Amino acid sequence: MVVLAVAVLSDTAAVAEPLLAAAAPCLSCHGRDQLVRKPGVPSILGLDAKYLIHQITAFQREFVPRGSGFTRLERKHPVMNAQAPKIKRADVAAVARYFAGRPCVSARDLDGGPAESPPPPPDVQRCFVCHGEAGRSHHAFVPSLAGQRRNYLRVQLQAFRDTHWVDMTRPGRSRTHNMMSRQGAYLTDAEIDDLAAYFAAQSCRTPVRAPGVSSWDGGR
Ligand code: HEC
Ligand code: HEC
Repeated sequence: MVVLAVAVLSDTAAVAEPLLAAAAPCLSCHGRDQLVRKPGVPSILGLDAKYLIHQITAFQREFVPRGSGFTRLERKHPVMNAQAPKIKRADVAAVARYFAGRPCVSARDLDGGPAESPPPPPDVQRCFVCHGEAGRSHHAFVPSLAGQRRNYLRVQLQAFRDTHWVDMTRPGRSRTHNMMSRQGAYLTDAEIDDLAAYFAAQSCRTPVRAPGVSSWDGGR
């Protein structure tokens, strides 16, 4: 009975939920329906809210000289450095929670791809330690990799590997993070390709937020 009540309540909430005005500038790229037409845009639906807050503020400041309080994090990308300042400081957490609360979408539903997952690459277990089994994270500040777009994952791993310092005068993208930069440091392009293909082929899963409410993406 209790489980049923929760499910009914959450269904009602989902229908009645208003669109968050502060998130409007982001939806033309990150909205669920837009992603299909935007192969270069990562899905941020269902990612950890604290992780999203970190990324938005990192893009806003473009360069964070001494870390963002919790951990050292720097990120530069021409599109997002222009977009992120559209969110007012006071709205960042609400926008992050808005996207974190949406059901995730798997890359193969957007981009197609093999029905079968490629075999797990050697040493992928060390990624699971932080990113969760098959890349479905249960940790704050750590993004899920399962079902993220293959090319996006590839480019991020290369950015972690190839960014030795953030130089704002250099065109293009760069990214550093005190935990993740070390993880990417020794990967070859071939290893990066295999890791990106493996995680992109996994089915994403939005973390369960209330008892009795199942949040598998379409039951796959
Ligand atoms: C014109 C398209 C576009 C718009 C509009 C846009 N983004 Fe993005 N977003 C991108 C692209 C492209 C990337 C990938 C950046 C990279 O490769 O580092 C990205 C990356 C991100 C990421 C990092 C995802 C991750 O997994 O680390 C976050 C968070 C994000 N965007 C939030 C937002 C928010 C919030 C807004 C609204 C202010 C917004 N974006 C508007 C294109 C867009
Ligand atoms: C010690 C913990 C840890 C380990 C181990 C780890 N990561 Fe990460 N990873 C992180 C954290 C934390 C972030 C978020 C970085 C940030 O905030 O910019 C991250 C971010 C990423 C991203 C960017 C995702 C996005 O949405 O932009 C990719 C891709 C990634 N990791 C892949 C891997 C792979 C592949 C492995 C295994 C070779 C791995 N990670 C091992 C902690 C870890």
